[in-house]
Amino acid sequence: MTESITITDNRTGESVEIPILNGGVDSGGWAKLLGNVWFSDDAFSHTAIGESSITQIVGAEGILRYRGYPIEQLALRSTYLEVAYLLLFGELPTPDQFDGWRDEITHHTYIHENFRKRFMESFRYDAHPMGVLVSSLAALSTYYPEAKDIEDPEVRMRQIVRLIAKVPTMAAAAHRFSIGMPFVYPDNDLDFTSNFLSMMFRVAEPRYHCHPAVRRALEILFILHADHSQNCSTTTARVVGSAHADPYSVVAAACAALYGPRHGGANEAVLAMLRDIGSYENVDPFIADVKAGKCRLMGFGHRVYKNYDPRARIIKEAADEVFQLAGRSPLLDIALKLEEVALADEYFISRRLYPNVDFYSGLIYEALKFPTNMFTVLFAIPRTAGWLAHWSEMLERSSRISRPRQLYVGHPERDYVPMAERTPSA
Ligand code: CMC
Repeated sequence: MTESITITDNRTGESVEIPILNGGVDSGGWAKLLGNVWFSDDAFSHTAIGESSITQIVGAEGILRYRGYPIEQLALRSTYLEVAYLLLFGELPTPDQFDGWRDEITHHTYIHENFRKRFMESFRYDAHPMGVLVSSLAALSTYYPEAKDIEDPEVRMRQIVRLIAKVPTMAAAAHRFSIGMPFVYPDNDLDFTSNFLSMMFRVAEPRYHCHPAVRRALEILFILHADHSQNCSTTTARVVGSAHADPYSVVAAACAALYGPRHGGANEAVLAMLRDIGSYENVDPFIADVKAGKCRLMGFGHRVYKNYDPRARIIKEAADEVFQLAGRSPLLDIALKLEEVALADEYFISRRLYPNVDFYSGLIYEALKFPTNMFTVLFAIPRTAGWLAHWSEMLERSSRISRPRQLYVGHPERDYVPMAERTPSA
């Protein structure tokens, strides 16, 4: 038997029965009965933007899967490039497919000299690397005008490869510029993650060698951040993409959404919060301020997870190995104490607020020697694959432009008043 809901218009007594499919009801059924009554859903809390086969989250149970594969298995056994392939193509690659994919990405890591020197290095000396990345992504569209041809699958795939390959190069370039260090060219003999670390940290040595534990920790962080269904930035990507903007503009828009402290910017905000709290003794007064509504406990809470964010659990485990290598951060004790106090407090329990991915990620990034202003950039690098997977899926499945309605609550019609006759409004 098909499950369904019935809606009755009490003004007319007419009803419509709408089947429940994949946990949702088609708004077309509602529209048939209630053509001019809009479904009001501030912040899209109860709206599904469409169907997707990429990432599944079961918030109540703390489950996250990419294309059906549990995030725990991918974090343990996969690599970021393999996960990017999985997100984009739907299946894990065979050895030949992976070799071809790695080759493609590796041979698109360079960015145009003129683009880096004249555009990226024209920012103020202390420019935030996220601001530089957002602008650079948008500017890149001017270097690849063919990208406007979004109907051609081959052209689309070429831009996807370019974006995944070039975002780490641009990210590292933004960092080097901000600290006054010369740019380090990509080293195509290195794997994706080692190459990024080399572009970030290499100084005068002929080849940058990173500790395998450092490389692996970053790889895990990249895997965990690669996609997360319809979060704010991915929805932005789909909405901008629905207007048939080119993929560079799409990813720039998504990246701008990620920059916000309620989204990807939270990892940077967590570190600032931990530094402000400063010591173990200040945890209780800080929690009291949060409960009094004076501030938020950054890195806590999630629209979808009403349980421990599985990514936070994996990061917490990975952190141990990094801290053994780099030494334990005094901020970790503050974070652990905050978690302990919050998870036992009625305010957080009743609202089902748990640590999210950003609560511990900043501490690992810090231990890996990344400056705080690079934390959100480190989120954007792997999320590029997720944004592009959703963009491709959206173009293949839907041809309509995103265009929600609004409930107008402004003035009714009124006549224009000449300036001299106006009285100041409150
Ligand atoms: N600290 C204190 N109270 C909170 C927090 C928090 N971090 N998050 C939610 N609440 C309270 C909120 O005040 C509200 O209480 P009340 O019902 O009394 O008004 C209730 O919990 C529900 O909150 P909400 O704002 O309606 O929840 P939301 O689903 O709209 O927001 C969120 C989700 C992630 C924006 C929010 O939890 C938040 O601001 N967290 C801190 C920022 C953060 O860590 N963001 C990273 C999210 S995970 C990575 C990513 O997506 O980028």
